[in-house]
Amino acid sequence: MLVLGLKCYSHDTGAAILSDEGDKLSVCAISEARLNRRKHSFSYPLMSIDYCLRAFGLQSLTQVDLICIDRHIETWPEIASQYGFDNALRMHHPRYDHNYRWNYLIEQTISLDRDKVLWVNHLDAHAATAYFASPFDEAAVLVAEGGTGIYKGSNTDLVPVDRIGYLGDTYQDGLKLMKRRDHFVNSSFLFDKFSAQLGYDIFGAGQTMALAGYGHNFPRKDYVDIDPDRFDDFIINHDKTVLGMTNVPNFEDTQGQELLSEPWVNLARQAQETLEEDILYLALQTKVKTGSRYLCLAGGVALNCIINRKIYDSGYFEDLFIQPAASDEGIPLGCALWGYYSNGGSQRWHMDNAYLGVNYGGKGLEEALAPWNLYSRNVSAKDVALELANEKIIGRISGKSEYGPRALGNRSILADPRSLKLKNRLNREIKHREKFRPFAPTCLESQLPSYFNAPKHCPFMNIAGFVLEQGLVEVPAVVHADGSCRIQTVSPTHNNGYHSLINEFGHITGCPVLLNTSFNDQNEPIIETYQDAVSCFLRTGLDALYVENKLVKKTKNTPIIDGKKLLDDTAKHTQRTYNDLINTHCDPEKFVDLANRLKKGIKGIG
Ligand SMILES: [Fe+2]
Repeated sequence: MLVLGLKCYSHDTGAAILSDEGDKLSVCAISEARLNRRKHSFSYPLMSIDYCLRAFGLQSLTQVDLICIDRHIETWPEIASQYGFDNALRMHHPRYDHNYRWNYLIEQTISLDRDKVLWVNHLDAHAATAYFASPFDEAAVLVAEGGTGIYKGSNTDLVPVDRIGYLGDTYQDGLKLMKRRDHFVNSSFLFDKFSAQLGYDIFGAGQTMALAGYGHNFPRKDYVDIDPDRFDDFIINHDKTVLGMTNVPNFEDTQGQELLSEPWVNLARQAQETLEEDILYLALQTKVKTGSRYLCLAGGVALNCIINRKIYDSGYFEDLFIQPAASDEGIPLGCALWGYYSNGGSQRWHMDNAYLGVNYGGKGLEEALAPWNLYSRNVSAKDVALELANEKIIGRISGKSEYGPRALGNRSILADPRSLKLKNRLNREIKHREKFRPFAPTCLESQLPSYFNAPKHCPFMNIAGFVLEQGLVEVPAVVHADGSCRIQTVSPTHNNGYHSLINEFGHITGCPVLLNTSFNDQNEPIIETYQDAVSCFLRTGLDALYVENKLVKKTKNTPIIDGKKLLDDTAKHTQRTYNDLINTHCDPEKFVDLANRLKKGIKGIG
């Protein structure tokens, strides 16, 4: 069975494909943002669809057996359109795409067999990413994000125990309730509300969590009265808390103040502490309602590595599996998994690594390097480790890209973690981001106990470790203000090339740890292709690229780059690619006809 999973609507669109031909499941997955270079892209995932089809040697959507699409909101119509013609005429989310028309045009004209489409509830898709990717044959699932869900998985079955979606579609104790709760502010939305007070949009949760790590630096003060009566079985309702937030400081009212100061750190700390209390409550509810020994986690809240560690330490469960693409980036994979198992699929799959992209294997590399007068030479892992030990900051692109928001070595910027000077240069010249945000360590799994207190196997950077004395002395650049770190462990079976590099660095320096941050500039998705890597290299202060087995450096003949022009050229190339893909995957005549009707604003279709 060949199953395609899609997230076509709202933010973080993308595609995933799985096949059970052969003796195990093979999976490929990608977010549209990686390909169209728009962070958290809202665009219909045409580029991702094409990427996934090609990964399995397919040319057409007609060649897949099942197409599973995220149904973001339960009340949307399933047969006609999730946009509707009138909505298509309106402006879309202004930060990313110009309007609904583009997505609507593709949705209405894409060439697929509508009988093969299965709509998947958004929370079910999240739950599927957690359970069906886990190593467990039986486990509970907690989904925590804009909706909340508790599920129970057993072999190839996954059923909701409790679930409340964005518009209130509710299961309780396994029964679908007829009553609706049309409005409530759950724990995740409250955290977003706190983030908004700090000047961040809905994608700023990581910054709020990072700021909370400085809580001990300031006298404690709570600015928000958290409603103590917010708990009602599995529903946590912060309506009253939010109604009381009338005199809470707002960062946007300040002029030039540092976020790393009172009251912003106290606000972030209170947001984090409240979320921790709420999610631990839900984890206990999950234990009580399912009686499971193991827990799988997904939903945007499961990107909060401190909370994950608190659940781990709580002892409620014997072990955890946390989906690395826990936020909506993982939804395409969840749709594909849900569809596969609900249509009789029987092969179980354990996602023991997050490298779900395609392997370019050097194809296109020479073309990407050629225009820029760069110097390149073949190197060994030891050569690159020597460069890192000599305080060079290096972007690595190798093999398949990571699925989800974390760079795990294959699309990473790497540096010596012993140097605070390098950390500052990385922030100033390459990442251009807030200086209060920490960088993460990758440690050889075998050396972890000497440096960090953490679960012994952390391949996904999604659970917090705490630094030990040796780590604090040796690798200060990867330790957050509260002693925590978003630890990644690596072993030869998990990522042999990356392991070899860190191993060589350890031989040279005595330190088996590297600083690992995502390979991208501010406001840019993590790189996917060689072209993206070269573009980021040219636009930033990176010292070198480590591409497959080559080390690439700038020369005196490398031109001074106008970064904006480079990005504009990329955007134009993306637009041309979309045009080509419309010709490949949509009915061009229908497309032009509908485009004309939308232009004229004719009512009544959709
Ligand atoms: Fe979601």
